[in-house]
Amino acid sequence: MALDAARTRLIRLLPKVELHLHIEGTLEPEMMFSLAAKHGIALPYASVEAVRAAYAFHDLQSFLDLYYAGCDVLRDRSDFYALAMAYFARAHADGVVHAELFFDPQSHTARGIELGVVIGGLRDAMGDAERRYGITSGLILCFLRHLSEEDALATLAAALPFRSELVGVGLDSGERGNPPSKFTRVFAEARAAGLHLVAHAGEEGPAAYITEALDLLHAERIDHGVRCDEDPALVDRLVRENIALTVCPLSNLKLCVVKDLRDHNLARLLRRGVAITLHSDDPAYFGGYIGENYRAAAEALDLTAAELIQLAANAARASFLPLPGTVSKLSSLGTTDPQ
Ligand code: HPA
Ligand code: ZN
Repeated sequence: MALDAARTRLIRLLPKVELHLHIEGTLEPEMMFSLAAKHGIALPYASVEAVRAAYAFHDLQSFLDLYYAGCDVLRDRSDFYALAMAYFARAHADGVVHAELFFDPQSHTARGIELGVVIGGLRDAMGDAERRYGITSGLILCFLRHLSEEDALATLAAALPFRSELVGVGLDSGERGNPPSKFTRVFAEARAAGLHLVAHAGEEGPAAYITEALDLLHAERIDHGVRCDEDPALVDRLVRENIALTVCPLSNLKLCVVKDLRDHNLARLLRRGVAITLHSDDPAYFGGYIGENYRAAAEALDLTAAELIQLAANAARASFLPLPGTVSKLSSLGTTDPQ
C-alpha cells in the first residue's frame, strides 16, 4: 500500500542531515554521458537506458566494479564541481540542510588526477551550495579498504596539506576480507590530526568488524552496521554508547544485503534504542536520494511519524556539526569544540 499523505508530507518537511553519501555515487547516467563526450571517452554503453539496465547488482562487489568504472569520466576540477552541484540541487529539493560527503581520492589519484583538483572542485560546489541553498557541508576522505594500508597512509600524507578542507576520514569499498584492523595505524594518524573518524562495517562483513571499527579505529559512527544484531552484546553497547548507524535502505535492497525492505532490521534496532539514521549511499546507482529512502523505509516498515522525526533528529545529533552542549571525541585529545 502506498504511503499515506500525512507521512509523505512529514518526510518532505523534515530537515534532513545526510551522513552517508558517496559523491561519486551521485553520478547520474546523463552526466556520465555528457562528461564522456566532453573528454572524448568511449563508454561501454549505447545509451542512458543501457547504463540503467546494467545496474542490476547481486552483491557489493558487482556494484563497486561499475561504480569505479563510472569514475573515469571525472577528470578536471569543473567535473567534480558539476557532480557535487547536481547533488546539492537534488538534496535541496529533498529538504537536506547539512551533508557530510564521502569521496574516494584513491580512485582518482590512481588515474593521475591530483588530489587538489578533486578537493578543489568539491569545495567550490560546497561554497556555492551554502550560498545558493543554505546547505552546510563537510568532506570525509575515505580510504579504499581493498588497497593496502601503505596506500592509505600515503593518501593521508598527501591529504594533510588539505587538512582544513576535511572534517574526517572514513573506510569504504569491498568489506569481506578487509577488516578494520588493517587500517589501525592510518586511523591513529588521522585521529592525531584532529579528524573525525567513521567506517563502513557490518554491511557485508560480520558484526566483529563493527567492534573492531569501534575499538581499533575509534570510529564515532558506523556506516551501515546492519549486521550488528548477530551480536546482542554489541547491540547493547551501541545503545549504551549512543553510536549512530548510518543505514541506507535502498542500497541494502539493491546490493542484496536484505531480500525485502519489509525484512530490514532498522525499525527493530530503532525501537530497541539504537541511534539509527537514514541516508542514500550511492543514489544514482540505487534508485533514490534521501527522501526516497525515508519513504521506502516508512512504507515497508510502517514507521510512525514519531519514528520518522526520531530518525531525522538522530542524524542531526550524529553529525559533526559543533552543536552547543556537545563535547566532541576530540576532548580525549585534550581539546574541546570551540563553543
Ligand atoms: N559500501 C562500501 N563501499 C562503497 C559503498 C558501499 O555501500 N558505496 C561506495 N563505496
Ligand atoms: Zn557507503
